[in-house]
Amino acid sequence: MSQPVLQVQALHRSFGLTHILRGIDLELAAGECLAVIGPNGAGKSTLFNVISGALAPSAGHVLLRGRSIAGQSPDAIARLGLARSFQISQLFEHLSVADHLRLACLRSRGLRFDGWRGLRGVLAKLPDVQAALALWLQRLELGDQQHCLPGELSYAQQRMLELGMALAGEPQVILLDEPTAGMSRSETAQFVQRLRALTQGRALMLVEHDMQVVFELADRVAVLHEGSLLACGTPQQVRGDAAVRSVYLGGLPC
Ligand SMILES: Nc1ncnc2c1ncn2[C@@H]1O[C@H](COP(=O)(O)OP(=O)(O)O)[C@@H](O)[C@H]1O
Ligand SMILES: [Mg+2]
Repeated sequence: MSQPVLQVQALHRSFGLTHILRGIDLELAAGECLAVIGPNGAGKSTLFNVISGALAPSAGHVLLRGRSIAGQSPDAIARLGLARSFQISQLFEHLSVADHLRLACLRSRGLRFDGWRGLRGVLAKLPDVQAALALWLQRLELGDQQHCLPGELSYAQQRMLELGMALAGEPQVILLDEPTAGMSRSETAQFVQRLRALTQGRALMLVEHDMQVVFELADRVAVLHEGSLLACGTPQQVRGDAAVRSVYLGGLPC
């Protein structure tokens, strides 16, 4: 098997004396979709925070294409090709849809607003950014909403915009924290269909409570319980696992 695109090794994270992640080992192959499931408070968002650089690990390693990234800033990790979305919406209420995507496109081209030198770089890249913007508006089916503020979008469109911002940097690895939470069944079905198309060929790790979404999208499922991995395998293996059924999937038919 070729080298995994992402490796998490013996990862620990504590807050004070409380151990939240207790030695997690995970691998993600190129193009694979891994769903992380588990009860509330299991440590799923903390795991994503450590992988994406929002939190430093207390111990252990995170490797992106074999290179250690643990403890680096979220920006540095994003530039290395790992993007994430958040459980809580991160949109700017006074920026339009198009401006959100413009920012994401500029950022993915390594541009910073740091004085005149940075501004010159931004201006030089504008035609390129306009072309990328048009493409993303079409891919996300947000063309008609490009001048809208986030508050004028449906909830599902807001989540689509957040997904687009994560994808605009063409990352190899994408972490999505509860992308379909709060959506209706039909919004979820449409979102999953687009998610599949938009992330084709990229490695995807998602925290998801909707088991229909998990079993539809995931190549493998990791079950987190009280900061430890209870099981990791194909959806069928995990669905049939007695320990998993007792703590999490008890209500699901085999
Ligand atoms: N910054 C923090 N400081 C202290 N405790 C935290 C912090 N972030 C998360 N926790 C705790 O870690 C545990 C796991 O949280 P979280 O990773 O958000 O779980 P999940 O996403 O699986 O629901 C919870 O008990 C939560 O209260
Ligand atoms: Mg969470």
